[in-house]
Amino acid sequence: MARLVIVSNRISLPREQNRAGGLAVAVRDVLRRHGGIWFGWSGDVVAETSAAPSIRMQGRVAYATFDLGTVDHAEYYNGFANSTLWPLFHYRLGLVEFRRRDFDGYLRVNTRIAQCLAPLIKPEDLIWIHDYHLIPLGAELRKLGISNRIGFFLHTPFPGIGVFEALPRHEMLLQALCAYDVIGFQTDTDLRSFRHCITTLADGALLEGDQLSAFGRIARASAFPIGIDTDAFVAMAAAAAGAEDTIRLKDSLAGRHLIIGVDRLDYSKGIPQRFAAFAQLLADWPEHRSRATLMQIAPTSRGEVAQYRALRRELEGAAGRINSKFAEFDWTPIRYLTKGFRRHTLAGFFRLARIGLVTPMRDGMNLVAKEYVAAQDPADPGVLVLSRFAGAARELTSALVVNPLDVDEISEALHAALAMPHDERLARWNEMMSIVRKNTVQAWHEAFLAALAGASVAGANHSPNRLIRALP
Ligand code: G6P
Repeated sequence: MARLVIVSNRISLPREQNRAGGLAVAVRDVLRRHGGIWFGWSGDVVAETSAAPSIRMQGRVAYATFDLGTVDHAEYYNGFANSTLWPLFHYRLGLVEFRRRDFDGYLRVNTRIAQCLAPLIKPEDLIWIHDYHLIPLGAELRKLGISNRIGFFLHTPFPGIGVFEALPRHEMLLQALCAYDVIGFQTDTDLRSFRHCITTLADGALLEGDQLSAFGRIARASAFPIGIDTDAFVAMAAAAAGAEDTIRLKDSLAGRHLIIGVDRLDYSKGIPQRFAAFAQLLADWPEHRSRATLMQIAPTSRGEVAQYRALRRELEGAAGRINSKFAEFDWTPIRYLTKGFRRHTLAGFFRLARIGLVTPMRDGMNLVAKEYVAAQDPADPGVLVLSRFAGAARELTSALVVNPLDVDEISEALHAALAMPHDERLARWNEMMSIVRKNTVQAWHEAFLAALAGASVAGANHSPNRLIRALP
């Protein structure tokens, strides 16, 4: 296979591997199998953004990282990526902030990344760019004469047209997306939204199969639902069952059922509604008091963005109020932790939990849902309560699927899950597990890379002048 060059804003350096999130874990798996270059932000903020990457080899992977300057970090990362695109792509129009300065910073950083990356590219390389931070990168590379096959995968949802067109300059993002040879989405819903935008807002046309034409180019757009390394996670959870942390957690529960939530501290995850639903459960079904504990692990995230700070305050208040209302001298209803845990520790916690509570308002996929399923004891599996607005709900239809806005519905699902007979738990889990075993992270990247390798060579359908003229 051709050499693989993967670009993502966040990368998982070897020293941080136990703490990596969904995107980073998936990409790490691809590179472990294929080798190649992983290009991205070092995570460091310095006075000026690097002009060239610093490169470190680890096994078959070259980690090429750049530092972000303070202004770029504010405008590109905290600004357009996380205060504009993130809420927009998660259907939270009310939280979207748009500043031209941030948009310019976003384009400027993408241009800089292209300049840093281009000298590393060899003619046969397959280039795979990830997520909303880097939408313009493909077009920027094309401007520098890179005619390799370039693919893009969006890890978040792609919103419906009514939401997308609210974004000032949205047509530039559509045009930038069309600079790729393959554009990948998590679900058919995201794909449909994108195709709708292309035909309606960009005067594009849908062609045969997964092809579409717009802005003088032909690209393929498909859904590639992401998964986990199921066999590895199953083994990790089985091994973690006897680990010290798992045993300490089990002892601390003193025979109570554990309900677990694990999310970055993000408003897209529906954590306040989750707390409210647990409180509702305790109010409506007093038999669960002192019998079930909710443990919410929510490592703080993007702490410089105001909405994230506000959420943190809100959750601290909510957990305190619920605990003070229901706690007993030997039982705290909600354990709320804002620190992160290693993956194998989480695998053990998932296995211990009777309920996996995954109720985002919107989520591209949500790999916690798949990890929770994979971690279960096959003889005595727990129940997944899953938001219908997580991409994972398209596949895990045997979960108890809820609308995350409906607190009563979530609390009813919790009650049903706590009372669910063993046979039903087993049947639901078996159905979900067969899907988690089939749609793995390996299947995801093999499908994407096959589509990319099979795409017609960029130069063949590429009209660079038309594309470049309209971009700043
Ligand atoms: C989501 C995004 C990723 C991002 C991750 C962590 O999963 O899709 O692109 O890396 O959150 O967020 P952070 O801002 O810390 O990179």
